[in-house]
Amino acid sequence: MKIKSASFVISKPNWKDCPDAIIPEYAFIGRSNVGKSSLINALCNHKGLAKTSSTPGKTQLINHFIINEKWYLCDLPGYGYAKVSKKSREEWGKMIRGYILNRTNLMNTFVLVDSRIKPQQIDVDFMLFLGENGIPFSIIFTKSDKLKQKDLAANVKAFEETLYRHWEELPPYFITSAEKKIGKDKILQYIGEINPMFEQP
Ligand code: GTP
Ligand code: MG
Repeated sequence: MKIKSASFVISKPNWKDCPDAIIPEYAFIGRSNVGKSSLINALCNHKGLAKTSSTPGKTQLINHFIINEKWYLCDLPGYGYAKVSKKSREEWGKMIRGYILNRTNLMNTFVLVDSRIKPQQIDVDFMLFLGENGIPFSIIFTKSDKLKQKDLAANVKAFEETLYRHWEELPPYFITSAEKKIGKDKILQYIGEINPMFEQP
């Protein structure tokens, strides 16, 4: 699939205020600073579309982008930023749980993990939450430009082994780099395959 147009729609703190759920939607989530917003920009060939920052905690709201006038990409605030207060963490949890569990047009959630590091409990816990609630998801390994092929393969394998402790079958995964534009085509192809499964409400 080719992206012909991509534009920002709206930012909201609550799923109830998000755009009408009448076209397919794909969410990007993962730890703060993992590269969600950067990957959205890379996918859309549009540098300033989603706001990025080298400081964690940049994305604070539920952000909708409309692609090809036909489907939504949703950029979500990240989890696991150590400097966040307990209250903010609880609010994040409420916002994200509300969004994930109620957004009826959500076709797939992409959970982004940093390809440079070994499996983190917080990522596994989030995937378990999705699994327990029957929310379809896939995994995106980010920043693959930052490490050697051998180390990348070892980290992916470690992640798979961790997940096999919980599941017999694993979700699809993608290796990406927003910097080097790696993995874009596969993700877009995947979305293109899922889009026709959307049922109009
Ligand atoms: P929050 O909104 O704070 O949750 O972060 P985010 O997950 O949206 O991360 P963001 O896209 O803002 O990127 C965080 C930092 O990582 C920025 O400094 C990016 O330039 C950098 N970054 C993102 N993707 C890549 C990548 O593929 N390669 C490299 N080398 N750096 C990346
Ligand atoms: Mg962001």
